[in-house]
Amino acid sequence: MRRTQIIKIKFQLFGFSQSKPKKTERAGNSMNKTTDKSKDISENFTRSFILKKKTPYRIGLIGCGQEGQRHLEEIIRIPEFNLVAAGDVREEALKNVAKTYSVPHVYTNYEEMFAREHLDAVAVVTSADSHFPIIKCALQRGLHVICEKPLTVEPRESNLLVSLAQKKGLLLAVTFTYRFVPDTRKIKELITRRKIGRLMGLHFILLHGTYQHTFSGDNLRKYEHVFTKVKGMVFDCGSHAFDLLSWYADSPVKRVIARAQCNTGYPYPDGCTAILEYQNGVKGLYDYDKLPYYVTSFDENSPWRNFFRIIATGTHGTVLWDFAGKAGNPRQSILKVFTQKGSKEVIFPIYSKERSMQYQQFALSIKSGELTGYFPSPSEAAYTTKVADWVVKDGMKNMLPGLYQIQKKRGASAANNQRK
Ligand SMILES: NC(=O)c1ccc[n+]([C@@H]2O[C@H](COP(=O)([O-])OP(=O)(O)OC[C@H]3O[C@@H](n4cnc5c(N)ncnc54)[C@H](O)[C@@H]3O)[C@@H](O)[C@H]2O)c1
Repeated sequence: MRRTQIIKIKFQLFGFSQSKPKKTERAGNSMNKTTDKSKDISENFTRSFILKKKTPYRIGLIGCGQEGQRHLEEIIRIPEFNLVAAGDVREEALKNVAKTYSVPHVYTNYEEMFAREHLDAVAVVTSADSHFPIIKCALQRGLHVICEKPLTVEPRESNLLVSLAQKKGLLLAVTFTYRFVPDTRKIKELITRRKIGRLMGLHFILLHGTYQHTFSGDNLRKYEHVFTKVKGMVFDCGSHAFDLLSWYADSPVKRVIARAQCNTGYPYPDGCTAILEYQNGVKGLYDYDKLPYYVTSFDENSPWRNFFRIIATGTHGTVLWDFAGKAGNPRQSILKVFTQKGSKEVIFPIYSKERSMQYQQFALSIKSGELTGYFPSPSEAAYTTKVADWVVKDGMKNMLPGLYQIQKKRGASAANNQRK
């Protein structure tokens, strides 16, 4: 008899059923609100059952937008996971993914999905303002969670989730994508192995060329919720930077001095320059702008749509990393190491495996019962929420005029001005 069958029989002897609810039970809005003790004990059994169980793990995904579809592509490729359900508030999005990725069950209500599907884990790929209630509900249901960055919008919410995951003994894996990229991991390795001596300074510069041609209209509308509900691009995209900077500095932040900029008509910033002073004396410089393509590259064929540079300076050398990227086109990055012994240059070719790595590492984490080193710990992810919030708040006290405002003052649209 197989091990899983034996475990199932034990559950039945104890009076805890692991079998799926009958059709009649599954028909309604089945969020089970019972708080009786036997359910708690049952959930504890369920968790140890997940750890012992043979893969594939049953996984559901919530949030079938741009990133959600990238996650779905990877989940279906990885044999360790069995994609059983997808959720989104938009029925249109659900129809699309049900067809494209052959998802057996779709839900507009994630609570209903958790109640019906007997999941082992859930992937949360909604916009960041909805992460907190979804992850909280998943953890309360005894599910392991893999979630897109940033963990939440409010630091207090991130801390609550960390405590809940800890209390329940569940995994909370936040996918800070750059932790999976060989180039950025190499920088960490060079710092940790003291190849540049003791780390003194970090520069993170990103000119993110992702608006199309103007700062207004349809080009911006797709980012509206980020500017109104997620504290803007400096918070949302910037969380990658604050995660990497804390990871490299390996120390908490002591002080932040920031000046934010709003290149759009929205209140939350999409540009910011900040100095982050770390408790161990490392100084970090964060410089970020989200700009239309015509600002970051006038040439349609240029690979330099995103200008992305990281510099790490140590007592005995410097690491310089430049990334040239345009979605869908070949890209590469160049890492240079300068020390007294000489200089070295490494070209990293296109890397597109970060998302499949995330799911491979998540499967290994479920199997071993703890997050692998690719993921930040839940506390580190929560700390990134705190730093991002700190930078945005400080930056907004000292706003610089943005391009949109400057161009508006001149009485011409951004596009017309730039195309002359
Ligand atoms: N790691 C990266 O490089 C990277 C890149 C882009 C975005 N992201 C992150 O991925 C997440 C999603 O971003 P996106 O660009 O795919 O956004 P998106 O707006 O394209 O997709 C979000 C989806 O979530 C759905 N949704 C929102 N609230 C919901 C709820 N309560 N229940 C169910 N569905 C809900 C929306 O209808 C939408 O389909 C964000 O956290 C974002 O920061 C990460």
